[in-house]
Amino acid sequence: MREDEQRRSELAALPKLELHLHHEGAAPPAFIRQLAHEKRIDLHRIFDERGNYVYDDFVHFLSVYEAATEVLKSPEDFARLTTAVLEQSASHGVIYSETFLSPDFCGGSDVGAWREYLHAMQEAADKAERDWGITLRGVITCIRHFGPEKAKRAALCAAETAGDWIVGFGIAGDENMGKPKDFAWSFDMAREAGLKLTAHAGEWGGPQSVREALDDLRVARIGHGVRAIEDLELVDRLAEEGIVLEVCPGSNVQLGVYPDLRRHPIEMLRERGVKVTVSTDDPPFFHTTMSKEYEDLHRAFGWDEEIFGSIAAIALDAAFCDATTKENLRKKLETAA
Ligand code: ADE
Ligand code: ZN
Repeated sequence: MREDEQRRSELAALPKLELHLHHEGAAPPAFIRQLAHEKRIDLHRIFDERGNYVYDDFVHFLSVYEAATEVLKSPEDFARLTTAVLEQSASHGVIYSETFLSPDFCGGSDVGAWREYLHAMQEAADKAERDWGITLRGVITCIRHFGPEKAKRAALCAAETAGDWIVGFGIAGDENMGKPKDFAWSFDMAREAGLKLTAHAGEWGGPQSVREALDDLRVARIGHGVRAIEDLELVDRLAEEGIVLEVCPGSNVQLGVYPDLRRHPIEMLRERGVKVTVSTDDPPFFHTTMSKEYEDLHRAFGWDEEIFGSIAAIALDAAFCDATTKENLRKKLETAA
């Protein structure tokens, strides 16, 4: 086997934990096309001639993403999606995944409907765990550009179903719309229900957006957060307070936050003591997988097994799941080491 092939298969085999994955955003395009075909929904505008998702920029990406969700209409569809996503993730060495679930796409944030969607996804996840050894937990996510009132409905769904499986609450969507504090009510409700918190910030917004997420929403983790690098005082605060960044390097490069991986700040943040983790965000949209992220980081920054091991340990510590689940995952990591 050639040296680079050997390296690639070693990196693919490393056990990985992924903390930042949008459930619908992980849908393989062939899966969405198949559902569109079954339901006679015309979605050709969101695919290119090779069948990949196509979009021009971040805002267009969000609208293509939402168009793809039009074919996901029932709990059964979300069960099938869960199986498709977990099969993909497990094939790249992922042993634990936290996926962002939005009740807005699952019965319009009605609590009764949401329970049915959730039940269907959990059943599919249980089977995937038996078949492929991958553990899934859910982080309910409100969508910033849908506004604070819809976020409250998502938070109510989150509070009603908080437990061993729904372990967190967060916010995604267009960071240029509204302010974190507009969503404080929803985050307070989720916190009171015992959920752990994360928020997208510092992807499109600058350092101030990260500060606001920390101060106004009191989150333990930041989705992306990479633009904190523009303010070293903030970087030091992240390091001191042990705030974990869910970094998605491939997503940032594909969406044009950084021109290429060498100019991405993940290594600078890590060297300055910030707890960084690695995720794919919306893998087929960004032509990535967890194995590809690892390969690219190895190539750009020389990350080796030891660094990837420490990244997995940080992700395990920062995971929102319970202590027993963490202990089982810890054993899997140890066995693989
Ligand atoms: N929803 C799906 N992917 C996202 C991203 N990268 N940023 C914000 N919202 C998202
Ligand atoms: Zn994201």
